[in-house]
Amino acid sequence: MSTTEQALKERIKELTCLYEVSSIIVNADIDFIENTLNAIAFSLKKAFQFETETEIFITTETLKIATNSIGNDSVFLSSEIKLFNQTKGKIEAHMSASKYSKNDFLKEEQLLLNSITLKVGSLLERFEIQNNETSLKRQMERADRLGILGEITAGIAHELNTPLANILGFAELLKDDLDQKSKSFEDVDKIIKNAIFSREVVKKLMFFACEMPQEMKRVNLVPHIKNAINLLDATFRKEQVKYIVKIEEEELWLKADPIQLTQIIFNLLINAIYFTPINGLVTIEAKQNTKEIILKICDEGIGFKIEDLDKIFEPFFTTKPIGDGSGLGLSVVHGIVASHKGSISAENNKNKGAIFTVILPKE
Ligand SMILES: Nc1ncnc2c1ncn2[C@@H]1O[C@H](COP(=O)(O)OP(=O)(O)O)[C@@H](O)[C@H]1O
Ligand SMILES: [Mg+2]
Repeated sequence: MSTTEQALKERIKELTCLYEVSSIIVNADIDFIENTLNAIAFSLKKAFQFETETEIFITTETLKIATNSIGNDSVFLSSEIKLFNQTKGKIEAHMSASKYSKNDFLKEEQLLLNSITLKVGSLLERFEIQNNETSLKRQMERADRLGILGEITAGIAHELNTPLANILGFAELLKDDLDQKSKSFEDVDKIIKNAIFSREVVKKLMFFACEMPQEMKRVNLVPHIKNAINLLDATFRKEQVKYIVKIEEEELWLKADPIQLTQIIFNLLINAIYFTPINGLVTIEAKQNTKEIILKICDEGIGFKIEDLDKIFEPFFTTKPIGDGSGLGLSVVHGIVASHKGSISAENNKNKGAIFTVILPKE
């Protein structure tokens, strides 16, 4: 073959590759990024002069794609994948160093590699934008639902508050009039106990609806964490769950209602202990940045089912068996965090268990 003919053949291979990669990208599906990158790698491999002996490697922040393995000793071309002007990976073409030198790559091959890398970069950018939009939409939907639930809850709680106070008040009056040994005395006592229980539920709903009065003060979070842990020390021991506190600073000041702050930590810890198996570990972390205090509670329990994640903060949502949970703990926490203008999120830990992150503004 003449060199002109050879060169022409190479150009055709490159153009074919560009065309192929373009159509792969047009049809790319965000749920199958790995397949897309794989297809691109194989298409790119075919465009090289020594195609059977060239291996393509695509590395991104989460994926590693290779058309085949290659020994440690190789010569290669490389091009950086950039997303929003930041390097987030690379594409490389390797050949064995025992047979080839770097000069065996054509100048055009580096150019082709660069232009494919550019295309891959903008594809990944597109995916990232798409991802952010979906998660933003999900967040907004959740916030909307919790907002509406909050309004309904506030209404119900208000409506129940007065009659409940009446039931309790009149039952107590009645109790005073009754003979302590009579059967009715016991019955009235049951009414009172149930009314008190219902009042507690209403109170929790009012927390969720951000309808509880607050006493905002400058408080140091660190002793509040220690205090909550002390209160739960017996529970930790009974359930045989270990804990570790990771706080680098002795003081983490913020403006908050001290009692409600303890309620946040307390409720999160109770759940963490409940879901963590014997000998498991609960990690409590706290730190700060210039504007916020960040509290993180991780456990080694069962974590969340993805479909439950959207619901865990709703009042009465519980996966615990009947009698074990009322589904109000996280609702209270959510309400308190919201009324402090903070945010709370829940996610699964990579290995096992749940992570709750609470962010509270310092002012
Ligand atoms: N640390 C955790 N690990 C796994 N799931 C959790 C954890 N904390 C909360 N959840 C989930 O959120 C639900 C609601 O929690 P919560 O509002 O405290 O109510 P309850 O504890 O009464 O079930 C739980 O039933 C459980 O499904
Ligand atoms: Mg709970």
